[in-house]
Formats: sequence, structure tokens, C-alpha cells
Amino acid sequence: MAILEILKIPDARLKQCSEPVERFGDELHAFIAELEETRLAGPAAVGIAAPQVGCFQRIVILDCSQARRPVPNHGHLILINPEITHWDGFVLGREGCLSVPDYTGNVIRAEQIKLVAQDSQGETHEYEMTGYEARVLQHEVDHLDGLLFLDRVVSRRTDLFQRKVYQKGGKKNST
Ligand code: NI
Repeated sequence: MAILEILKIPDARLKQCSEPVERFGDELHAFIAELEETRLAGPAAVGIAAPQVGCFQRIVILDCSQARRPVPNHGHLILINPEITHWDGFVLGREGCLSVPDYTGNVIRAEQIKLVAQDSQGETHEYEMTGYEARVLQHEVDHLDGLLFLDRVVSRRTDLFQRKVYQKGGKKNST
């Protein structure tokens, strides 16, 4: 296994749209293991999407169970071909991203969502998510469509914030 390189802005590949996964074999499982190792390298991120490491397939890993503040969550999820089917409510919240290391930003997201996704074996599942977990999922699905939170901030002048140095030993809520 290996820790993969994270693409960072202004790398144009971050704007690329990812393709659906069709094969659920050893190659996919090996890649997921590397993506997970990369997510956990350094201060662990709550989410990561395959295109962030230059693999343009619709694969997301999500884990809000270790978020800085406790939030309702489904624990550790590997989501293949995730598709949001229902959005409800709007809420403004702060986001960070491994691909945008120097900034955080305020982004409006749906407060509650429903989605369908396959697991690493190709089985389909439905989920309902709320609050922070719903936010992280929407952020990761954006990566699959070539969008960053920077594309969603209402105003780059008032809603974008330079990162301070990470607190020692703290968790980094990047995605
Ligand atoms: Ni991100």
C-alpha cells in the first residue's frame, strides 16, 4: 500500500468529472485501501474522494465519527457511485478541503439529504444524512463532479478565510 499524492489547487484535474465504477473486484478494493490510508495520513480527514488523488471514478470515503464535535453519523462509509436523491433545508457552514490547504470557506448546503450508493461489493444501500455528515457528503459528491467548495462560496471576499496553523494534536475537519 502507499499514501497517494493529493491534488491541490490550482491543479486543473480537480475540475474533471469522474466516471461511474462498474467493476467491484480486487483492483477496486486495493485502491480503496490506498485511498483510506491517504485519508488517515497526517491529521485524519473526515472525507476523501477518489479524484483528489487523480483517480476519476465515483468513489468516496466518509467518516464523521471522529469529527471535532460529536455529530449524528453512520460511522465509516465507503460509498461507490453515490447519488443524492433528496435535499431538504439550507444551512451555512464552514468547510475545509485537503485540496485547498490554505483556506476554509462558508458554504450553503442542504441540511438533510437522502442518497443511494453502492458498497465495495456492489450492493446498493440507501442513507439519510443530516447536518455535518450531510454537508461532508455533499462536499465529496461535488469532488466527483469537478467542483470545489471554492466554487460554492457566495463571496470570496467575505466567506473565504485563511487557515491558521493547525492546533497541535487536533483533528482536522478537512474533506
Ligand atoms: Ni474536499
